[in-house]
Amino acid sequence: MNIDKKMALISVVGSGHVGLVWACCMADKGHEVIVSERDLEKLKRLNQGALPFYEPGLAQLMSDALTKAKLTFTSRTSEAITKSEISFVAVGTPSDHVGRIDLSQIKSASIEIAKALGKAEFYHVVVVRSSVTPGTTVNLIKPTLERISGKRVGRNFGLAVQPEFLREGSAIHDVLHPDRVVIGACDTKAMNKLRKFYHAFHESKVPILEVSPTAAEMIKLASNAFLATRISFINEIANICQQLQDVDIVDVAKGMGLDKRIGLTYLNAGLGFGGSCLPKDLRLLITESNRLGYFPPLLKSTLRVNELQPLQTVRIAKQELGTLAGKKITILGSSFKPNTDDIRESPSLKLIELLLRSGAKITIYDPVSLEKANRILGKKVVYASSVRSGLRDADCCILATEWPEFKGLRPKEFASLMRTPLLIDARRIYSPDKYMRYLRYRAPGLSERTQNC
Ligand code: UDX
Repeated sequence: MNIDKKMALISVVGSGHVGLVWACCMADKGHEVIVSERDLEKLKRLNQGALPFYEPGLAQLMSDALTKAKLTFTSRTSEAITKSEISFVAVGTPSDHVGRIDLSQIKSASIEIAKALGKAEFYHVVVVRSSVTPGTTVNLIKPTLERISGKRVGRNFGLAVQPEFLREGSAIHDVLHPDRVVIGACDTKAMNKLRKFYHAFHESKVPILEVSPTAAEMIKLASNAFLATRISFINEIANICQQLQDVDIVDVAKGMGLDKRIGLTYLNAGLGFGGSCLPKDLRLLITESNRLGYFPPLLKSTLRVNELQPLQTVRIAKQELGTLAGKKITILGSSFKPNTDDIRESPSLKLIELLLRSGAKITIYDPVSLEKANRILGKKVVYASSVRSGLRDADCCILATEWPEFKGLRPKEFASLMRTPLLIDARRIYSPDKYMRYLRYRAPGLSERTQNC
């Protein structure tokens, strides 16, 4: 078989965010894709067309692919590998709270792939798409594949790393229109095959960067650590602005970002970063660096600023309400960012825990993530069925996730529904001038206004 031809038979190992979105996008482009998933309950639901997570546009893409029989699911990884010409490994690589990575899924996937490679009659390329510690592909995956299959990289099969940079909530767009494709191949043949594959997939519109496998792994971690550092940097500046008079971090970030050397992205101050990648990859880089004998002060500070950031919003609530004990505080948004139901390391949930510790009575509303929030918070909070019912009789409202639905809320609505019209805009989505006319409006990075200039 030959993957140079336009539509290849492809397998994807793992049906998490990266694996499933990538599989559906390839199927949409006309490839035949077979996804292997070991969790049988998840597999059953996938075969029924049910998504394991919320991602805009993905349900339709998956349903179209299933209807056209371009996408199939199986529990048997080896079968998927032997049938396909190229396999993308997108299994989970979770880490514990100190940043130690759990590579058990990578290890078991490598063993299963190796067994199938042992039987394969044609050259097959294995592409690592999971985020891993730099060196994992060369030092762990390659020897495992070679030892168990009895075959050699470059001679009988190919191996490469190709990190995924998609963001949850805009995953389909990011997969179809990435800024770059980074490929770290262990052998020239794999590099040549993948270069052709990605040129065809992106119609030669996306730059391809060819690096070593370990450099490709490092690019993923360093990119996320850099984005995290920008966010912590702007939050630190916001916390300084908070102590000044008549300064808004939004103006400061814009003034900085218009400098082309700086740029406007990832300078939104507020509650800090969460999700399954930025905190995890940052901790992983710190842990790995420590292991190698370098103790990275900048990365540690980035993490520390982020851990402390929700306290700034609690501080504002206390300044306004005095004691929080018994006060009804309504939180808008529980997901770690809009357009996802993912609550992993959500800054909103960290904020809620802090407010609960101060005795506040919490009501939360989120368009899609309340069920997942309920699994963490249980009966400690009240779950509202709509924004308006959540706001009724509240002493304070804190906007914690910038869902589009919240952007349309008018200041008069807050003022008419709440007991005390106090809004803390922790994601900076409202215009201070407009909202201050109707209610008490506070926000991280927005200092008290002075009228004297
Ligand atoms: C991130 C990377 O962006 C992506 O390239 C990688 O593949 C996976 O990790 P994601 O976790 O989906 O993507 O979220 P992202 O949009 O980067 O936001 C991460 C967190 O930072 C969110 O909690 C978000 O609210 C926060 N954030 C983002 C800010 O607080 N300020 C900003 O300016 C940008």
